[in-house]
Amino acid sequence: MPRLSALRSLLAAVLGVSWQQRLLGHHVVPAAWRRQCFSAGSKAEDSGQVTPILKHLMFKIKSTGPITVAEYMREVLTNPVKGYYMHHDMLGERGDFVTSPEISQIFGELIGIWYVSEWMATGKPKTLQLVELGPGRGTLTDDILRVFNQLGSLLNKCDISIHLVEVSPKLSEIQALTLTGRKIQSELDVTSPVYMKGISKAGIPIFWYRELQDVPQGTSFYLAHEFFDALPIHKFQRTEQGWREVLIDIDPKAPDQLRFVLAPSATPATEYFIQGKEVRDHVEVCPDAGILIQRLACRIQEDGGAALIADYGHNGNKTDTFRSFRSHQLHDALIAPGTADLTADVDFSYLRTMTQGRVATLGPLKQQEFLKNMGIDVRLQVLLQNSSDTAMHKHLLQGYDMLMNPKKMGDRFHFFALLPHQRLAHSDQKVNLQHSKSLSAPVAGFGELIWK
Ligand SMILES: C[S@@+](CC[C@H](N)C(=O)[O-])C[C@H]1O[C@@H](n2cnc3c(N)ncnc32)[C@H](O)[C@@H]1O
Repeated sequence: MPRLSALRSLLAAVLGVSWQQRLLGHHVVPAAWRRQCFSAGSKAEDSGQVTPILKHLMFKIKSTGPITVAEYMREVLTNPVKGYYMHHDMLGERGDFVTSPEISQIFGELIGIWYVSEWMATGKPKTLQLVELGPGRGTLTDDILRVFNQLGSLLNKCDISIHLVEVSPKLSEIQALTLTGRKIQSELDVTSPVYMKGISKAGIPIFWYRELQDVPQGTSFYLAHEFFDALPIHKFQRTEQGWREVLIDIDPKAPDQLRFVLAPSATPATEYFIQGKEVRDHVEVCPDAGILIQRLACRIQEDGGAALIADYGHNGNKTDTFRSFRSHQLHDALIAPGTADLTADVDFSYLRTMTQGRVATLGPLKQQEFLKNMGIDVRLQVLLQNSSDTAMHKHLLQGYDMLMNPKKMGDRFHFFALLPHQRLAHSDQKVNLQHSKSLSAPVAGFGELIWK
C-alpha cells in the first residue's frame, strides 16, 4: 500500500529526529488527571459557599422555575462575567485538572504528524487552516507547530494559518503567550468576528474567534481535544410515568443550596431527544455537540479537510456521567458553582448519527491504540536516547504511562475522526464502522503501522 509507506517515511522523518524537547519544569506529571472517577462526589467543605453564579442562578430559578442541567452547565462554565472558564487558568498541577498535551510533548507531536499525513492524503492543498476548538493553554497547537516547523521542506509551499475558537478571555491571553511569546491586545472593532490576531514564533498567522461559524471556510483541519465534554448536556430519567427531564431547583430544606429534581411531566425535550428504542434508564444528550458536529461535517463535505476529536466518552451505552472537579478531586456539581469544572462523557454514537452521513467517521478508538499506531514508542525511545538527564527520563516515562496505561488515560480517552467520503473511496473497507480497528483504511492512527 503506497500511502502507508509514505506515512511511515513521514513518521520516521519526524519521530526519529532529536529535535527540541520541551523544557522540564512547567510540565510536571501530576498524580491524578481530571476524568478519573465517576460519582456525584462528596459534599465539599464549602457547601455553604454562595458564589456570584449561585446567586444569579437562584434569582433565575425564583423568577422562572427550575432550570435544565444544560442551562446550569452553560451558565456555570461560560457565563461572561463569572463563568468557570472565563477568568482563570484551571489546567495543570496547581489548577483543577490536567490534560494530555500538558502531560507530554509527544502527544501533540503525534497529532501534528496526523494532520500533515491527512494534508498529504488530500493532495497537499495549497492552504492549510488548522482550527482548534477550546485550545486551553495553547500547548497542543504549539507542539503541532513544532512538527510543522520540523517538516518545513514539505510544507514550505503551503499557506498555513491557525484559527482558535475560544470563549475564555483568560485562556486566550495564555494561548497568545504560548504561541506568540507575547501579550496581544484585543481587536478594537467589536463587530469583527476575529477578536485577537497574532503571529506565531515561526511566523504563522493566528486568529481567535468565539464560535466556529466565525472561522472562514476553506480546506480546514479541525481539532477538538477535551472540548466536547465541556458542552452543556440535558439529562433524562426513565420513570413509571415515562421519561422525565432532570432539572435543578433550590433545595427547600437549605435555601442556599441547589438540588436535582424531575420535571413533573414530559416536556418537548423528552419527546425530541429520547429515541423510541432507548434501553437505558438514564440518558444524557448534548444538542450543542450535535449542532457543532453537523457544522463540521458540512464544512468538510464542502471544502475537504478532516476533523480529529479526542475526548473521554462512550458509544451510546453510558448513563450518568455528569460530574465536577476541583483541585484534582471530585466535587459536588451543585456546590459553589463557578469554582469547579463541570463535564460529561462524550456520546460518540450521537456524534456519528449527527453527521447525517455527510462525512465518513472513524473511531472511537482508544487513546493507547491510536498513539501506538502513531508511533509513540519510537518517539519515546528517541527522546530517552537524546537526554542523559534522569529527571527528564522520569518525566518522559511517567508521561508515557499516564497517556497509555489502560487504567489511566489509555482506555478512557478515545479518538474519533471525520473525513470526506472520497478520502476513503479507494479503500475497499466500509466506513462508519464503530470499531475502526477492523478497518485497514490508510488513515494514520486508525490503522496499525508496522515499525521496523
Ligand atoms: C477542558 S479545556 C481543554 C483545553 C485543551 N484542549 C487541552 O486539552 O488542554 C476546555 C477548553 O474549551 C474552552 N471552551 C469551553 N466551552 C467553550 C465554548 N462553548 N466555546 C469555545 N470554547 C470553549 C475552554 O475555555 C478551554 O479552553
